Parts: sequence; C-alpha cells; structure tokens
Amino acid sequence: MQGFERKDGALLVDGLSVAALADQFGTPSYIYSGARLLANYRQFAKAISGLDCQIHFAVKANSALGVISLLAGAGAGADIVSGGELERALRAGVAAEKIIFSGVGKQDAEIAAALRAGIGQINAESAAEIDRISLVAEQMGCIAPVALRVNVNVDPGSHAKISTGQASTKFGIPTADGQAAHLYRRISTDPHIRAAGLAVHIGSQIRDLAPFEAAYTALLSLAEQLQEEGLEVPGLDLGGGLGVDYQQSQPTDFAGYGALVTRLFGNRGYRLGFEPGRSITADAGILLTRTLYIKPGDDKQFVIVDAAMNDLLRPTLYEAFHLIEPVAEKLASAPVGLVDIVGPVCETGDYLALGREMGQLARDDLLAVFGAGAYGAVMASTYNTRPEAAEILVVDGTVHCLRPRRSLDDLLAAEINPLV
Ligand code: LLP
Repeated sequence: MQGFERKDGALLVDGLSVAALADQFGTPSYIYSGARLLANYRQFAKAISGLDCQIHFAVKANSALGVISLLAGAGAGADIVSGGELERALRAGVAAEKIIFSGVGKQDAEIAAALRAGIGQINAESAAEIDRISLVAEQMGCIAPVALRVNVNVDPGSHAKISTGQASTKFGIPTADGQAAHLYRRISTDPHIRAAGLAVHIGSQIRDLAPFEAAYTALLSLAEQLQEEGLEVPGLDLGGGLGVDYQQSQPTDFAGYGALVTRLFGNRGYRLGFEPGRSITADAGILLTRTLYIKPGDDKQFVIVDAAMNDLLRPTLYEAFHLIEPVAEKLASAPVGLVDIVGPVCETGDYLALGREMGQLARDDLLAVFGAGAYGAVMASTYNTRPEAAEILVVDGTVHCLRPRRSLDDLLAAEINPLV
C-alpha cells in the first residue's frame, strides 16, 4: 500500500494500523508514509525524465533526517536555506555536489560552510550578496559556484505569504531594467566565482500551471540573451512550488508540470534543477491527535484536541485547509453540525479547522489531520511549553521513530536560569 488508506473502516499507513501507532507513540505525532514519499519522488522524476536534470528536495518542507535520507537514497539532492539545513542534508547522506543553497540572507559562516563542504551551487539574490560570496571564496582560496536567482515579476496566484514571484517581494534579482543581466556579467568575470546559471522560484502551492509558464518563459529569454552575448549559462534552476490538493481528491499534477517544462526546455542544452518540497511530502504525512473534550458553543461545537497551533501552524497562519477525519470510521454517526477543531493553546487563533461537518466525537477519539507531511513538523514550536510532536516514518513495513517526543526535562535543559 502506498500511503494512507482505509481497510474495513480503519486507517492504515503503508498497510499498518495508524491506531496502533498512536498507542505506541502517543499523540500528537506526525506519521509519514515511506511508500508515498518515494512514489511522489518517482512520479516527479518520471515526469521530467526526458530532461538533463537533478531534483533537489526542498528540505524546509520536511527536514527530518530520516525523510531526507530516504529521498537521497532514491537520488534526490537537497535545496537548503541555512547552515542548519546544510548540516542536515550532509548528515542525511546527500552528496555535497547535489546541494543548492537558496535564500536572501546567507551569513558569512554559512557561505563558508557551504564552500568548505563543496556544494553544487549557491543561488545569490542581491548584488551585496554576490560581493560577500566572492570575498568569502577569495579568503578561502576557492571558487564559488554561483547562480543568480531572478525575480521575473510573476504572480503565482497563491497565498500572499507564500508568493515570492512579484517585484514587490524581497526575493531574487529583478530581470527588469537589465539588473539581472548586469549582475550575470559581473559574476561571469569574477575570479572567485564560477557562473552556474540562473534560478527562479515564484512561490509555493501553485496549482495552475500558467504562472510557471510565464516565469519559465521569462527565465529562458534572459538565458538566451546572455548566451547570445557569449556568456555561459550552464544551468537553469526552476525552483519548487507545485501545489497539492488538500481536499485529497485530485492527485498532484506531476505529469502536467513535467510536460510543461519538457515543452519549454527540452533539447535546449541546459542542465535543469528542480526544488520541489510540498509535492513530495505533503500527502505523505498526517498529524495524529486525540480528542480531549467536547464543548458546546453557541452555534457550533468545540472539539478540543491534544494537537495545537504549535504543532501545525498552517491553518491559522495561512487560513490553510487540512482534511480531518476520525481514524476509526464511524459509519453510522450522522453529522452533529459544525465543529471547530481546536487545541489547548491559549489563543483564539489556535485551531486546526473551523466550521467543519463532523460526526459525533467522544473523548479519546483519534483524528488524522491529512496533508501534514510538508511544512508541518518543521514549523512547530514549543509555545506554551509544549514539547514537539513525535515524528514516525514507516518504510517497507518497519516503523522508525525519527524524533521521539522530548521530556520536559530535555526541553528545559537547553535553558540557563542564573537566578535560582
Ligand atoms: N525553493 C525555494 C527557493 C523555496 O523558497 C521553496 C519554498 C521551495 C523551493 C519549495 O517550494 P514547494 O515545492 O514546497 O512549494 N510554509 C509555507 C510554504 C513556504 C514555502 C517556502 N519556500 C506553507 O506551509 O505553505
């Protein structure tokens, strides 16, 4: 079985009982399906298989070491945005040359660590950053492989907080007014830099292919212009962003995306890079939570569960929808009307779902929050001094605990209190 399916009403992950995992590891816990992770990765790879390319899994989507290792074993490189993610990717066994370093604010120590490790590419996002990378490389006596992340001023049609393609955002070097072209000439002549090409990433959770086409067409035209000038543009990094259906009713459109990039870039001689995160991991994970209390409200019921906004921030941060179902299907139970599924954190914004139709729930019922494999555990905090949820990965019928829930002793051990 690939992923989360029901058998006789019970929810299974890769064929194993989700309820049994809740008994073993407690709640809240993230449960990941190894089969689904690999199936998503392979579908992405298949969709672009006619191209000269490398997939760099955006580890910010799910940076559990075990998840990165599983994908690295299938051939994935890593797209990283910090020294911390560099360390994770290396420890997880990603080959350094398959690592791409993105992000607008790289610190000197992070640039140095990346160069020391020998990573494949640094995507620079400003003139000031290019100067800094050149300086660090000079001090280290090495040559930095640098691509320019460009801003092509395309609206990805996604949530404002995860849209990066417009000129008004902090991301990329504008193609407008020849700015990107000017800086590409600059990196092509810098003795401490090897110009590796161009990169673009216009945002996340993009379900319509048209914004990709607009961005990629603009990227291609800049690349061709630079080549006509005699500059070398060996690689084009096409970023991530492919969206998923959080209602879980439509499969991710890997094939449509692959067909688009193959049409635009096939046989053009560029080495292509991809940075998918969400499309690989979102539907490969659930957040498992248990009902604590049912509380009647004025016009709805509050279902208070043991997972909260500190465990899954997406609903309150982006008004994101996550499908939520009881782990044990209660076929006979008619909807009781609208419920808000809320956590124990002391904020009105602490919810996993608002205004949902649900059957009658009772204390200790298990709920599965679907689509939680991307930007779930990685965005967790310990707000309200709540230890992070455990993270569990099932691979080939074996259950691996990737991150046990921390005890309060462990949680507090990182702090120093000089006043007692
Ligand atoms: N490459 C770069 C440079 C990125 O900034 C991102 C995501 C990706 C690749 C991966 O994009 P994906 O394929 O996952 O869409 N926390 C938000 C999503 C933030 C995405 C940030 N950048 C959420 O929960 O929706």
